[in-house]
Order: sequence, then C-alpha cells, then structure tokens
Amino acid sequence: MKAVALLVAAGSGERLGADRPKAFVALAGRPMYEWSLDVISEAGLTVVIAAPPGFRLTGSVDGGATRSASVRNALAAAPADAEAVLVHDAARPLVRAELFLRCLAALADADAAVAAAPVTDTVKEAGADRVVERTHDRSRLWAVQTPQAFRRDALERALAVGDDLLAGATDDASLVERQGGRVVLVESSPENFKVTTAHDLRVAELLLSDRVGTTPC
Ligand code: CTP
Ligand code: MG
Repeated sequence: MKAVALLVAAGSGERLGADRPKAFVALAGRPMYEWSLDVISEAGLTVVIAAPPGFRLTGSVDGGATRSASVRNALAAAPADAEAVLVHDAARPLVRAELFLRCLAALADADAAVAAAPVTDTVKEAGADRVVERTHDRSRLWAVQTPQAFRRDALERALAVGDDLLAGATDDASLVERQGGRVVLVESSPENFKVTTAHDLRVAELLLSDRVGTTPC
C-alpha cells in the first residue's frame, strides 16, 4: 500500500506558552517539527505538513482551527495514489521510524492502527466536584499517541463530519471508532511523549541532545 505521512504542526502551543507556535520552538538546536520530519524521511515516506498560517514550509498547507481540521487540509493535498495515511503530531519529536512502519503493517487487518503505551498510573474518574465516581481497570487502559495509520477511505469518511464533532476529537482514530471502524493498538513506549508543557520541552531537550551526541556522523 502506498503511504503518505501528514505532519500536523499548526497548533499555537498555548500550554507551552512560547513566543511562537509550538512546532517551531527551538529543540536541541532546531525547530521541533524537523525532528519528526527526519524520522518520516528515514521511514521512506512522503510528507504533507500542516503549518500555522504565516509559517509556510516546502510542501506545506495551512492548518485549520482544530487539529482534525489541520489533518483534513493536509489530507486534501496528499498524493492521489496514497492508500494509507500516517498522521503524526509535530509535538512528538521523539518518535522513531520503526513505529511508523509497525503502524503501517498493522493496517493489514484494521481501518486504523494507532501507537499507544500501557497506562502506568491508576486512573480515576471524578465529577467537577472532584468526588471519585470510579476507578478504571488499568490493565485495559492505553495512552494513545501518534503516529496513527489509516486506510485513506476510512479516514476521509471519518473526517467528513461537522465542525463541532471535529473540534471535540482529540485524536483522529476516535472519529473512525464513531463510525464503527476497526481500530487496533500498536504498542509504543512512553518515550514518544507529546511536548505539551515547559517541563516536557526540557525533558525532550535532554533526550534529543543525548541522541545528537551519540549519533554517528
Ligand atoms: N495541531 C494542528 N492544528 C491545530 C491544533 C493542533 O496541527 N489547529 C497540531 C499541533 O501542532 C500538534 C498536534 O496537533 O503537533 C497536537 O496538538 P497539541 O499538542 O494540543 O498542540 P497545540 O494545540 O499546539 O497545543 P495547545 O493545545 O497547548 O495550544
Ligand atoms: Mg491543542
């Protein structure tokens, strides 16, 4: 199956609070999104980037107001013959090429195959009053990451919904699940975390500086 990667980099990074969109913040010597771009090229995939308006890059399109809208814009610019789509957050710069390839392979018997790590904390559910209503069975819980691989037709159908539904989706696989699609998990490591806060940026900086230091030239 011919595959394309969509790198979503159009978020503002409100929780990080930097002076520019999160994907363009300096991380171990380069803009954050470039780390994912290298890994995507190492995996042998072509890429479409969704960038914030005003941050045009080679081969990029303007992102949308929500994450899923950015995915939709990038998908519209993907090569017509790509049957598989790998969506990846630029905010996950620690991703590895093998994870893209394992997600792609897992599409053989699924509509979507998403990277996920087993949850290590106990997860409780509470109301706005913070009174605990239940404790979930941790052995069944997974923290979902990207990349998320999709059969293109399934992703196109999933994204063809109203803006309200798109805005509420924190990942694209949930839109496929809504339509009864078969979504499978591909085990990943917590190292592939999402840079959300200043703390995450410091941890990513340490890990990637280390990687630069040990990569043979
Ligand atoms: N994203 C996007 N377009 C949007 C919103 C998010 O392309 N309208 C991308 C981000 O650039 C990021 C990924 O989706 O790579 C995951 O989103 P998140 O971590 O929430 O990033 P931001 O939305 O930028 O951060 P925040 O929610 O703190 O503002
Ligand atoms: Mg966001």
